[in-house]
Amino acid sequence: MRVAVTGGTGQLGRQVRRAFAEQGWEVAAPSLAPPEHDVADPAIVDTIAALQPDVVVHTAALTDVDGCARDPEAAFRVNALGTRNVARGARAARAALVYISTNEVFSGEATTPYREEDPVAPINPYGQSKAAGEAFARAILPEHYIVRTAWLFGPGGSNFVTKILARAQAGPLQVVCDEFGSPSYAPDVARAIVQLVATGAFGTYHFVNAGVASRYEWAAAVLALAGLATPLTPLPRERWLRPSRVPRYTPLANQAGAALGIHFRPWREALAEYLRIEAT
Ligand SMILES: NC(=O)c1ccc[n+]([C@@H]2O[C@H](COP(=O)([O-])OP(=O)(O)OC[C@H]3O[C@@H](n4cnc5c(N)ncnc54)[C@H](OP(=O)(O)O)[C@@H]3O)[C@@H](O)[C@H]2O)c1
Repeated sequence: MRVAVTGGTGQLGRQVRRAFAEQGWEVAAPSLAPPEHDVADPAIVDTIAALQPDVVVHTAALTDVDGCARDPEAAFRVNALGTRNVARGARAARAALVYISTNEVFSGEATTPYREEDPVAPINPYGQSKAAGEAFARAILPEHYIVRTAWLFGPGGSNFVTKILARAQAGPLQVVCDEFGSPSYAPDVARAIVQLVATGAFGTYHFVNAGVASRYEWAAAVLALAGLATPLTPLPRERWLRPSRVPRYTPLANQAGAALGIHFRPWREALAEYLRIEAT
């Protein structure tokens, strides 16, 4: 069995390639990432078809939420139209598609974790472009898995954890205390995607580590596990000015995956493993 991975040089894409290879899959050689490959270029349809994959995992995206707010057209071109191209490529190859989506498709007005069937209502251009990508994936081929994940961290990535560790070197930190989500470890999500593909149960999934955190709680855990005594103070969201509107509460509930026996460990456990790996 052969898998092709878009954005294969990214934080999640690298782990997806590794997780499939560990299970004996052939991983198609190109990482389908810039500068050689642009998912927004329709040529990607033929590129994917020529690889003759059984499964395409589409991780490539513009992931800078504030960058997407500054340039919504680029966000739509890459995240929405790019997904349309990748879905067409998968259809041409008669492959199944795994589209990686996000917690940011939700409005953040909920008070309990979002379930797979909850209606999407994105409030920023990044979320809107990713939700449009979901719609293209569903419309273009029935053999799709929509995998929403959130607040990713993993080896080699630039993420909230690496930013907190870097800023902690510079002095005391203030971190937002009233934005809530599901911190998720890229290697755990990647392994779960391999498990999911083995089931053939197409549909929508929420793949996140177990538990809910505020940004502040997450930062506090990073500092504690890294053994840093940097002072940390809570900051209300409205005092953290940024180009993008941020949904307040977007933890995700993994119901559909759990029904297939796909479970996730608590985010703190995964964070401890990540920090151990990064320290060596
Ligand atoms: N990071 C998070 O917290 C988070 C949360 C929820 C969902 N997600 C979703 O998870 C997926 C993976 O995120 P990540 O954290 O691994 O992101 P990442 O590290 O930024 O990786 C994104 C990958 O996409 C590539 N890419 C960007 N524009 C492209 C284009 N036009 N054509 C082809 N490839 C392109 C990047 O290549 P270059 O590096 O060369 O630009 C990189 O390989 C994304 O779909 C994202 O929406 C992420």
